[in-house]
Amino acid sequence: MGFKAVILAAGKGTRFKSELPKVLHKVLGKPMLWYVIKAAKEAGAEDVIVVVGHKKELVEEFLKGEYPDVKTVYQEEQLGTGHAVMCGAELLKGYSGKVVVLNGDAPLIRAEDIRAIAQTPGDMVVLTAETDEPTGYGRVVRDGDEVLYIVEEKDATEEEKRIKEVNSGVYAFDCEKLLSTLSLLSNDNAQGEYYLPDLLKIFKEKGYKVVAVKSRDFDSLRGVNNRCELSVVEGILRDRIVRELQLSGVTVHQPQTVYIEPEVKVGRDTEIFGPVYLRGKTEIGEGCYVGPYCDIGDSKIGEGVKVESHCWLRGALLEDGSSVGPFAKLRPGTVLKRGARVGTFVETKNALLEEGAKANHLTYLGDCRVGRETNIGAGTITCNYDGFNKWFTDIGERVFVGSNTLFIAPVKVGDGAITAAGSVITSDVPENALAVARSKQVNYPGKAEVIREKARKKKEGRS
Ligand code: UD1
Ligand code: CA
Repeated sequence: MGFKAVILAAGKGTRFKSELPKVLHKVLGKPMLWYVIKAAKEAGAEDVIVVVGHKKELVEEFLKGEYPDVKTVYQEEQLGTGHAVMCGAELLKGYSGKVVVLNGDAPLIRAEDIRAIAQTPGDMVVLTAETDEPTGYGRVVRDGDEVLYIVEEKDATEEEKRIKEVNSGVYAFDCEKLLSTLSLLSNDNAQGEYYLPDLLKIFKEKGYKVVAVKSRDFDSLRGVNNRCELSVVEGILRDRIVRELQLSGVTVHQPQTVYIEPEVKVGRDTEIFGPVYLRGKTEIGEGCYVGPYCDIGDSKIGEGVKVESHCWLRGALLEDGSSVGPFAKLRPGTVLKRGARVGTFVETKNALLEEGAKANHLTYLGDCRVGRETNIGAGTITCNYDGFNKWFTDIGERVFVGSNTLFIAPVKVGDGAITAAGSVITSDVPENALAVARSKQVNYPGKAEVIREKARKKKEGRS
């Protein structure tokens, strides 16, 4: 049974003290609103309508990028959650199924909870939960099993404030009954707003069927009204993600110190040491090792790859059995083929290291190819930028690059060649050639003793 989802996201989020609308504040790298829409879609929403208002251009821009099929309606003035739904009425007219209303500031909502209320028979089904910290939430007032009404914190009596069952702000409505009663809401309350939960009482008066479904997990209903709550919610989501990984066969050490975004994938028997940041669409294969203090974003890592501590990766592709670090910086366009290795204090960008190629220490490889089994000596630099343009360095296979070689791109080094340490390579090196491009050494016999003698006399003359 399908339903339409209406997500309320027009509020400013005054308590965030921010230029950014509240629902765009991020939890593990994704705006809160991203999670709510994802859950609604997972639960089977056939249509998602987002009510936008404060800084709507920013919210719409985000939606266009991540959820282009989502519709928006504009709430010019934020007159309350009931008023926000009225703004969506236009797009709901003529629909006779269920409408699920969700808050854009409750990112931990689970698809299963949404599905549960959408499938529960009733004209208004409200999702609630028990908590020992109900402050700030609307309280669910019951008489035995029967729900009587929902009262907002600011309108509640002392007795009502002691109630521990709270309103999640998630409801499933019969669409026709919702549309025909919205106009009956009043704003005669402490905040002068049209409260959506007031519909509960109105539905009851009309004789419509009202049901409250209690979730067993208050955490997944948490609303975020300030940055303290944002970090609490982020911690809960982190724990969820880590637990899921652990149960799927990933070992996570120091789990309280890892930061893993929701789209990251990690294979079985991979071992991760916190603190670590895994971001974006990063994928890590089976049997890998990721040491502490790494920050890996939008990278693809094969099987049996070792990423030692303190590595920074963005947009890198590491094939099976390759290894990196410690202390390496791999920028976009870096490709390490099977068994290739990038070591300590090496930076790469748009660099292809073919199978078994190695750059073990202190090197910059940018805009280049390094052929199979080639060894890059310490201190090697591809000088890819002449101040105006970027140029390519092509190094063949089985090349031995002596320490401190500079490649002034564009330049090509043939297979099996050797460059002498300290060489500045400005023109192509043929296959199997030895290239020496440094000034010749001259030895002056006995000259060292002469210099020392001179220095000694100078010092004596001064004292
Ligand atoms: C709301 C509920 C409360 C519930 C809590 C759960 C009401 C009156 N109260 O309170 O019972 O316990 O959620 O988290 O509904 N919004 C609009 N337009 C508006 C006002 C709000 O789009 O005119 C949006 C906000 O951007 C936000 C959501 O609706 O995403 C909830 O609004 P908020 O002001 O945070 O409501 P709460 O006080 O948290
Ligand atoms: Ca809220």
